[in-house]
Amino acid sequence: MMRIVILGPPGAGKGTQAKSLAEKFKLTHISTGDLLRENVKENTALGLKAKEFIDKGELVPDELVNEMVTKKLNSLKDGFVLDGYPRNLSQAKFLDSLLKETRRDSFIIYLDTSEKVVIERLSGRRICSNCQAIYHIKNMPPKKDSLCDVCRGTLYQRPDDTVEMIKKRLQVYLKETQPILDYYSDRIMRISADEPKEIVFRQILENIENDLHKK
Ligand code: AP5
Repeated sequence: MMRIVILGPPGAGKGTQAKSLAEKFKLTHISTGDLLRENVKENTALGLKAKEFIDKGELVPDELVNEMVTKKLNSLKDGFVLDGYPRNLSQAKFLDSLLKETRRDSFIIYLDTSEKVVIERLSGRRICSNCQAIYHIKNMPPKKDSLCDVCRGTLYQRPDDTVEMIKKRLQVYLKETQPILDYYSDRIMRISADEPKEIVFRQILENIENDLHKK
């Protein structure tokens, strides 16, 4: 069973690459950010608690996110791409305890990118309100303004994609998430993510293939 974890700062392209990987390998794409936003939209108890943290660009408390991820993983029979989780050392250790089996088909991918690129990407990002497809006003524009190419849903800008909030999320990333790169140092695949989407995807596939040959 293939399991891919994608790490990287906000705007590195985790969601973009996770969607392509899920399609290629027929995996379930699990984005903790999307799951939390769905809960916020539906006003669930989790959503009401999570909103106050998301609105500040801070991490939602571990116990809430861990429970949500556990439920989701337990409901799956096949492989998955995990995007946006783990986000700190405690979540990384929790994930290891959930996935006790062999590491052979597990891949930890880190999308390495610069702050300048992150700000440019996130401030131009647009998302389909219906199917969550990801666009960028310059890099990946929709064929028709403000409408999703896939399902014709309306595109929107995330409220946490303002320059001020992006900087806050980057600070949180550096403090909380960056340290887990050391935790995964023996198995992480570093990908230079400043390149266009197709090149990043090719690099990820090459790394996965090389790793499979080594194992
Ligand atoms: P989350 O939704 O996970 O946001 P994030 O990590 O900040 O990442 P993003 O979704 O903003 O970026 P991405 O890397 O997926 O980039 P994308 O592919 O869209 O989390 C949001 C909030 O939820 C958090 O702040 C926190 O409060 C909470 N949360 C979530 N998970 C949590 C957890 N585990 N624990 C606690 N709290 C949690 O791409 C960005 C843009 O760039 C797009 O426009 C895209 O078209 C474009 N683009 C992508 N790749 C390329 C490329 N190669 N070249 C050019 N443009 C590109």
